[in-house]
Amino acid sequence: MFDRFFQQAEERSGDNDVPIDTSNVPKHIAIIMDGNGRWAKKKGLPRIAGHREGMKVIHRIVEKANDLQVKYLTLYAFSTENWKRPKTEVDFLMKLPEQFLDKELPKLKRNNVKVRIMGDESVLPVHTLRAVHKAVDETAANTGLILNFALNYGSRHEIVNMVKQIGEEIESNTLSPADINEKLLTERLLSSGLPDPDLLIRTSGEIRLSNFMLWQLAYSEFWFTNVLWPDFGEEDLEEAIRTYQQRKRRYGGI
Ligand code: IPE
Ligand code: IPE
Ligand code: MG
Repeated sequence: MFDRFFQQAEERSGDNDVPIDTSNVPKHIAIIMDGNGRWAKKKGLPRIAGHREGMKVIHRIVEKANDLQVKYLTLYAFSTENWKRPKTEVDFLMKLPEQFLDKELPKLKRNNVKVRIMGDESVLPVHTLRAVHKAVDETAANTGLILNFALNYGSRHEIVNMVKQIGEEIESNTLSPADINEKLLTERLLSSGLPDPDLLIRTSGEIRLSNFMLWQLAYSEFWFTNVLWPDFGEEDLEEAIRTYQQRKRRYGGI
């Protein structure tokens, strides 16, 4: 009975005729862009065709988010676990940032978007890094939407590295255990400088985090959809935001 109630509430909020409340747009949206492989399989295409199609969705979602005055958009593009995939697929995925930016960087610059990267860069191919750093450098002065690509990102890896660094600083007496608090840890994560996501979106029907922003998502609202990433459109983003706007965020209060 309660399930039915919640389902109805969510369906109502997802109604297309409920306008988006422009005073309550999530400041930071994080998206786990999932389902490229299944999209391709459904069409009898190789998995990489799904990744290519998924890449095309990004610019529309960035534009829509920008229009809606979202300030930060974090996109999970490649996880620290995705290296387990066949080499041909990984190689293809590592070429996508170049392909995307070759085409989209001029537009991102025109739209005042600022590009950032969040992940372990030490093992990324040089060609991938070159493209991403070029975009980061050339958009550094922009003041609009901050587009944060999680590339070779894994939350546990991020936390382990942070703890290691803190351990070294304690050992060398540049940090005292008494200085460790939530603010310090937040500033030491790869997302340093970004507020926690208000809204997490995951496509493709998987209801899990897959090692994404475990610390940062502590109080985020989650929205899951069965839509596969290559089919994700502006209207889906709007639906997620409308649903978000129906939620009561309590942060432990009443
Ligand atoms: C998401 O799509 C893209 C990446 C993880 C790089 P998938 O490739 O995971 O697609 P599915 O989950 O196999 O359908
Ligand atoms: C999460 O998707 C990573 C990205 C979208 C980049 P996966 O497809 O790798 O996640 P699992 O394996 O289904 O948990
Ligand atoms: Mg997947």
